[in-house]
Amino acid sequence: MTMATDKGAAKFDVAVVGASGMVGGELLGLLESRDFPVGELYAFNSGRRNAKVRFRGREYDCSAPTFAALKKAGLVFFVSNEEVADRFAPRLAAAGVWCIDDSSRFRLSRGVPLVIPEVNGAEIKPSRKLIAGPNCTITGAAVALAGVHRRFRVTELRVATYQAVSGAGRSAMGVLEEELKGYFRSGSVRRRAASGFPRPIAFNLFPQVGGFDGEGNSGEENKVRAELKKIWDDGSVRISSTAVRVPVLRGHSLAVWFRTRRPASLAALQKELGRTPGLKFFSRPEDYPTPLENGLRTETVYAGRLRRAGTAPGEYQIWIVSDNLYKGAALNSVQIAERIAAL
Ligand SMILES: NC(=O)c1ccc[n+]([C@@H]2O[C@H](COP(=O)([O-])OP(=O)(O)OC[C@H]3O[C@@H](n4cnc5c(N)ncnc54)[C@H](OP(=O)(O)O)[C@@H]3O)[C@@H](O)[C@H]2O)c1
Repeated sequence: MTMATDKGAAKFDVAVVGASGMVGGELLGLLESRDFPVGELYAFNSGRRNAKVRFRGREYDCSAPTFAALKKAGLVFFVSNEEVADRFAPRLAAAGVWCIDDSSRFRLSRGVPLVIPEVNGAEIKPSRKLIAGPNCTITGAAVALAGVHRRFRVTELRVATYQAVSGAGRSAMGVLEEELKGYFRSGSVRRRAASGFPRPIAFNLFPQVGGFDGEGNSGEENKVRAELKKIWDDGSVRISSTAVRVPVLRGHSLAVWFRTRRPASLAALQKELGRTPGLKFFSRPEDYPTPLENGLRTETVYAGRLRRAGTAPGEYQIWIVSDNLYKGAALNSVQIAERIAAL
């Protein structure tokens, strides 16, 4: 439930479903460091293993969620998976509980806003209690080019992604570490059958994130296309991408080519990028961001290496890096919650 504090500000009883996971851990840390007004905290995991999480100096046992247990909260963060979100979030939202879902289950559902607060925060309304957070890959481009799109109308976007293993959850980080250790022990990289990745990831990369559809596009490539159109509320943008998993622990990078409907000079683009909310833009070519330097617990999206593309007049290129676990998931969800608290 939600109640007023002594100072009159709303305080939320908060449930975190997936508290023991990668995103869940970051989310709890951010609720604490950003001083989100949490009343009671309820922590949930699959219930298949014992897990404890810490919040404001207290230890909480995680357990499997039930509808009755979740309904005690005024705000539920779903950072688990599609099936769990599907089972609980619509019913909870109908019962008046705010639900913020980081899975892909409702991102494209009609009536469910897909929100990055600094891009389309106005979509958060008391009448729509279920809110989705976007895919961690497209968040960087959606934030970085939001101002450029508003001012010059991006018509085409080509994206090559370089996605960290943490984008696939805690177990995927373990896979990279195990393969690396195996290499230093034996001199060769071996993929475990249950690694969850289609190929070895240590000293490797592969152009497959998710399964393939009949056209040969991966699940991630389809998410990038559909979600960006929804976030920018512009179905006319043409988007093509190749999603690649790389042996980086944290921080997604994007090489992006874009064209605009209204003519844009390099100087005008630089000016727009310099004042885009949520973005730190580096104008000197050598100041480009990297996942190691800019993708670890960072709150903004970073971009650099803006330049004219050699492919067509009016086409530009840019390099974007963001923390997939912060802006791509946990931080974005907490920022949505902060907007809810301010309604
Ligand atoms: N990683 C990213 O960069 C990223 C970015 C954007 C969105 N997301 C989304 O955020 C969600 C969490 O991702 P993650 O990377 O944190 O994954 P993760 O590290 O694998 O954690 C998954 C969490 O969900 C819990 N869980 C699994 N089955 C459950 C069930 N039946 N009931 C309740 N809880 C259950 C797990 O509990 P146990 O510990 O008991 O298994 C764990 O706490 C996913 O929907 C993912 O698509 C992730």
